[in-house]
Amino acid sequence: MAGPQLSQVALDIRHMDGLLALSAEAGWNQVADDWAFMLANGAGYGFADADGRLVASGLTVEFPRYAWISMILVTPAWRRRGLATRLMKLCAERLASVGLPAGLDASPQGREVYLKLGFRDCGSTTRLEGELAGQSVPPMPYGLDVAPMTTSDIAEVAALDARSAGTDRTPLLAHLLARMPQAAFVAHRGGCVSGFVLARPGRQCAQIGPLVSSDEATAITLLASAGAAVGGPLCLDLFDERGSVRRYLDRCGFRPATTFVRMVSGARDLFPPDHHTMAMAGPELS
Ligand SMILES: CC(C)(COP(=O)(O)OP(=O)(O)OC[C@H]1O[C@@H](n2cnc3c(N)ncnc32)[C@H](O)[C@@H]1OP(=O)(O)O)[C@@H](O)C(=O)NCCC(=O)NCCS
Repeated sequence: MAGPQLSQVALDIRHMDGLLALSAEAGWNQVADDWAFMLANGAGYGFADADGRLVASGLTVEFPRYAWISMILVTPAWRRRGLATRLMKLCAERLASVGLPAGLDASPQGREVYLKLGFRDCGSTTRLEGELAGQSVPPMPYGLDVAPMTTSDIAEVAALDARSAGTDRTPLLAHLLARMPQAAFVAHRGGCVSGFVLARPGRQCAQIGPLVSSDEATAITLLASAGAAVGGPLCLDLFDERGSVRRYLDRCGFRPATTFVRMVSGARDLFPPDHHTMAMAGPELS
């Protein structure tokens, strides 16, 4: 349990310094804009020590049909004392109160906690790190048109995204477009949106995602466009079944850094079985 020297806090934007310290300490990539988006789109919980230092965090990112449990972080000195379990229960209580089922993307350590709480595996991604600027650009698939994304594309992009994500994520997509508009692209085929890519700056490198498209050739073209626009080191979390995209990234010299297991609680699947998400937005965002 938390112990007498810790107090539970409701996280908000005033905790930003402590939150950034926690995510940086874990070697994670979040910047203040990430935390601000998450805090504004759900409920956040933390524990602070007697000096007021934040030692643990956890929050929910809420969409219309489900929520993501995210940023479960415990500073090393306070691990294996039940804090992550306690934070998960606070998030679960919150989601029960608003009637949303929970999903998450688990780190290998986090998965050990979530399995004990009844979460089950339903997919996996690999974080790949490298650079695409200066790499040879693959031939554009016949009949495909790729153009920079603008705010006027968001409604169509969100509709395509919802068919894969299983929920409307318009606020997240608009947030990411505003963060890195130069790396946002939309693909059209036959006059209809057939794919898109978004990206955001990070503490260590830019992160590309979500990357959504009906086929992997389109995904590779979108990825090459976004990667050239990022112009430096980047990472993305690629679903492990996306073999063609993975081979393209392997050829470009990308290296696996870690893995995440997608997990849900309860019997209900949150995502369509034939979803077209190639790379997720990030483990903290869904
Ligand atoms: C993963 C993490 C949040 C766990 O926090 P914690 O407060 O130590 O977890 P808990 O004390 O609630 O652990 C509950 C149970 O989960 C399991 N567990 C937790 N951490 C584990 C680990 N590193 N290895 C194996 N099992 C682990 C154990 O069964 C544990 O019970 P026990 O201590 O009685 O054996 C923490 O190690 C951390 O912040 N890691 C770095 C960031 C990270 O990966 N976060 C998860 C993101 S999805």
